[in-house]
Amino acid sequence: MAAGLWQKTVSRVMGAVKSRSPGSRTLSDVRTVTLIPGDGIGPEISQAIMKIFDVAEVPIRWEERTVTAIQALSGKWIIPPEAKESMDANKIGLKGPLKTPIAAGHPSMNLLLRKTFDLYANVRPCVSIDGFKTPYSGVDLVTIRENTEGEYSGIEHVIVDGVVQSIKLITEDASRRIAEFAFEYSRNNKRSMVTAVHKANIMRMSDGLFLRKCREVAENCKDIKFTEMYLDTVCLNMVQDPSQFDVLVMPNLYGDILSDLCAGLIGGLGVTPSGNVGANGVAIFESVHGTAPDIAGMDLANPTALLLSAVMMLRHIELHSYAKKIETACFETIKDGKVLTKDLGGNSKCSEFTNEICRRVRDQD
Ligand code: NAI
Repeated sequence: MAAGLWQKTVSRVMGAVKSRSPGSRTLSDVRTVTLIPGDGIGPEISQAIMKIFDVAEVPIRWEERTVTAIQALSGKWIIPPEAKESMDANKIGLKGPLKTPIAAGHPSMNLLLRKTFDLYANVRPCVSIDGFKTPYSGVDLVTIRENTEGEYSGIEHVIVDGVVQSIKLITEDASRRIAEFAFEYSRNNKRSMVTAVHKANIMRMSDGLFLRKCREVAENCKDIKFTEMYLDTVCLNMVQDPSQFDVLVMPNLYGDILSDLCAGLIGGLGVTPSGNVGANGVAIFESVHGTAPDIAGMDLANPTALLLSAVMMLRHIELHSYAKKIETACFETIKDGKVLTKDLGGNSKCSEFTNEICRRVRDQD
């Protein structure tokens, strides 16, 4: 697959495009971005991204913030105030993986971040990378997941001993909002079809409401084809022929599962970028793999997912020429196949892979 196809997919998460080149830059164009390096391999892969951005002379100043769960006096779990203030001011963040200790008592840090900044849309482009062999080729689709409710609203309780109830929350507003986002994303990215993924045959009220809102939004977006499909049918069709899909929109839990399945089609979480977008341009871009504690600190991590998420971020903030330069260097490195991390089938260290991308960035100047 050519870099251009991938570019089409991630060219715009939202909004209009105005390209800026290094030559037309002024000091006031230097954008501050909140960087949350995260845990485990997070700091190593963040360093790699900072190095590549430095070599590419991207006009970005990083504001590093640590994110751990802290409990307010009210008992509520919150993220550290310094991190919240930084994101409130900068609006744009790049995030490495965060560990969620099981039984630590606090919610998932990723959920907490999404809730704190109302990042209601999770966008994951899944596009085959040229030269990186998987059982599938030519995959080119995007999953858009409602990020704030569904089974992940955190409403669970014990009814009587041995019986637990977990509430799936679906609201009209959140369903309409994510459907509108999916159509707007499709239009901005020259995509032609939105598929609503649901189980309204079983969950008639909750998924029924989600689907109704998708249909209503589709009525006003006749330029984009609209289809709907049961989640189980999507899974079956996806592994048989992913080329039949374009943009898929779905409630939270289905999106969590299906987006990982789609990542598997293109080679896994190590090469899949992701963005979480909220209202008024707020967005956090993140690698979707975990902290990889088994290889942390060993210079073995693959920084591609975080790098491609950072490229997605550059396009979101309209730094298209830098995005293209870095993305081309990354894809060429993978296609060439000589300097690859272990998970990509090579023997190179994270630092060697990063240096090779830097070399290819410099070669373009
Ligand atoms: P994991 O993704 O960290 O690791 C699974 C396997 O993939 C491991 O063998 C690991 O070495 C490998 N791997 C992951 N990313 C890699 C990369 N960039 N380069 C090379 N190899 C890579 O999943 P696991 O072990 O289930 O979770 C570990 C921790 O990460 C947990 O605390 C979990 O809560 C957290 N986590 C955080 C996520 C996030 O912040 N987005 C997502 C998933 C898990």
